[in-house]
Amino acid sequence: MANILILIGTESGNAQMVADALKPILAGDGHDVAITDKAQTAADFSGRDVLLVVCATHGSGDIPTNILPLAESLQRERPDLGAWRYGMIALGDMTYQDTFCGGGKKVDAALEACGARRIGDRLEVDASTQPLPDDEAVAWIKGWKALI
Ligand SMILES: Cc1cc2nc3c(=O)[nH]c(=O)nc-3n(C[C@H](O)[C@H](O)[C@H](O)COP(=O)(O)O)c2cc1C
Repeated sequence: MANILILIGTESGNAQMVADALKPILAGDGHDVAITDKAQTAADFSGRDVLLVVCATHGSGDIPTNILPLAESLQRERPDLGAWRYGMIALGDMTYQDTFCGGGKKVDAALEACGARRIGDRLEVDASTQPLPDDEAVAWIKGWKALI
């Protein structure tokens, strides 16, 4: 069983809603699961096996302010995250077109650049067609958790 940290990047709560829906599903499989919206550096996650990032997009393709310090520290310091595995759920809105899910894509790229290995494909949730992002995430997590 894995020790999973769900890291949310949010401005208005949708990512928290998704995390709250996924936590009991993962815990029901016997994983140890915690949720946080606070992250400054990679060191904040030591002791965890798997990170599940649920990241919204704000501004124009921007990373939510609560996890911007983490993303910037990964981009700046390039810690060796070769032992990390992570999943990525990006929340966005297709009406923003070119910046769709930009926040999650940027965090995904930052983790990958540090050597972390993503488990499965990134889920991209479109708020313009999916008013309840947790529904789509709950369906997606069934496949993702089989890959942990
Ligand atoms: C001011 C504002 C700017 C946004 N900019 C983008 C954007 O550039 N690209 C995108 O895909 N979604 C964008 N969104 C949509 C949000 O990412 C989406 O609604 C998401 O579900 C919000 O999650 P949160 O409640 O956890 O912050 C924006 C939303 C707001 C309110």
